Amino acid sequence: MTDALDDVRDHYRATGLTERLKAALVALGPVDQRLTPAQLGALDQFHTRGLAATAELARLAGITAGMSVLDVGSGVGGPARFLAATCGCQVTGVDLSEPFVDAARYLTERTGQGGQVSFETASALELPFDSGRFDVVLLQHVAMNISDRTRLYREIRRVLKSGGSFATFDVVLNSGEPHYPVPWARTPATCFLLTAAATRAAIEPAGFRTLAWHDDTEAAKAWIAQLRASGPPPSPNLGVVMGPDFAQLAANLGRNLMEGRLGILTALFEAASIDS
Ligand SMILES: C[S@@+](CC[C@H](N)C(=O)[O-])C[C@H]1O[C@@H](n2cnc3c(N)ncnc32)[C@H](O)[C@@H]1O
Repeated sequence: MTDALDDVRDHYRATGLTERLKAALVALGPVDQRLTPAQLGALDQFHTRGLAATAELARLAGITAGMSVLDVGSGVGGPARFLAATCGCQVTGVDLSEPFVDAARYLTERTGQGGQVSFETASALELPFDSGRFDVVLLQHVAMNISDRTRLYREIRRVLKSGGSFATFDVVLNSGEPHYPVPWARTPATCFLLTAAATRAAIEPAGFRTLAWHDDTEAAKAWIAQLRASGPPPSPNLGVVMGPDFAQLAANLGRNLMEGRLGILTALFEAASIDS
């Protein structure tokens, strides 16, 4: 278990990330100019379909102003900043990667959202929060890095209020082995994909009732096809975060989706009463 977490941390080690971001963001304007979450969308939404997917997940989860939201595996914080800006909620992000959390805090300073958005370094398997603290928990493109799904979903249930919402948007296994490297795993050592059915079978016993269940693979494939047709990506992009091999990682994700090896799942669950 610890070895697997260390391997995942290593995959997202992102040496010198905040300094690289500072340098790359010069392209968007002077350092004292406030940035908008939308301006950062090409480099801070680390999942298929970018900002559009985060907006859809927020709508599905029914996030509104004043809610307390936890983003598990928050990356460099793009989804958290976007949700706070568009829904008016308070967002806490938690991530295993210290460089990602440092970068998330820096980017949040640059968007001036420090009063609404905060980040902590911790494992999703040991969330540093009291039970029943959050109205909504989001998990976007994170579960495929986590082998102990029973513990992951139990921890998510524990920090949610009864009746709260858990919205997940994740990569799932369809058929055959994925081609590596992919954005979350350069080798199988950090890849713990489950099928959609096995994902649901792990979530429900943790204390959840399924409210919505969508196969989003076709939308992801259409997005990949559009990216391929539209030439080089905007700059700065996720290559700043993950390094020069990111184009290859992303291309393999596209190939795995197009070949039917991987799929994309969106689902919404209600936290059952803890006593029931
Ligand atoms: C592909 S990125 C997605 C980031 C973010 N959810 C987004 O969509 O922009 C996966 C993230 O999950 C984090 N992660 C992986 N395993 C984790 C764990 N056990 N606990 C907390 N975070 C984890 C990684 O550090 C990384 O930031």
